[in-house]
Amino acid sequence: MTQTKKPEGTLSLQTIAMPADTNWSGDIFGGWIVSQMDLAGAIHAERFSQGRCATIAINQMSFLVPVKIGDVISCYTKILKVGNTSIQIQIEVWDSHDESRPAKQVTAGIFTFVAVDANGRKRQIVEALKAKVCDKTAP
Ligand SMILES: CC(C)(COP(=O)(O)OP(=O)(O)OC[C@H]1O[C@@H](n2cnc3c(N)ncnc32)[C@H](O)[C@@H]1OP(=O)(O)O)[C@@H](O)C(=O)NCCC(=O)NCCS
Repeated sequence: MTQTKKPEGTLSLQTIAMPADTNWSGDIFGGWIVSQMDLAGAIHAERFSQGRCATIAINQMSFLVPVKIGDVISCYTKILKVGNTSIQIQIEVWDSHDESRPAKQVTAGIFTFVAVDANGRKRQIVEALKAKVCDKTAP
């Protein structure tokens, strides 16, 4: 199948799937991929909100194709919505193993993060930051 879709959003994290990340079938654990997505979303949420954030929900998660050892996975993040304290982020993972074949999307998810203070209590997101959501290139 030819994939015409391109990654959406900012490249927030890139890593390599290692043998220690596999399940008993030899594919990469779904939980490992979700944790990479969580890290990527948190990086974007914390840069955006200029402070600490905590994951409050994984609202949607789809595993589209298996990830294999040695795959280079790239996590793209895009803010969908900003509330008083929350940031909803679309997170796509793409396998961009090498130049010889096109990148393919391996997962899609929507995660929600809450801006928190040093004590882990929710904090308001500054109004002026919300305008930045329109700028897809600025994390
Ligand atoms: C994050 C935390 C401080 C938020 O405090 P809280 O009193 O539970 O927060 P609220 O219920 O008022 O929700 C806060 C925001 O999240 C949103 N939210 C809550 N549950 C949600 C869900 N299931 N899906 C999407 N958004 C959700 C609320 O709508 C609210 O958004 P807004 O302020 O932009 O309107 C608290 O829930 C917490 O500590 N949770 C554990 C976090 C954690 O350990 N994460 C894993 C490791 S990072």
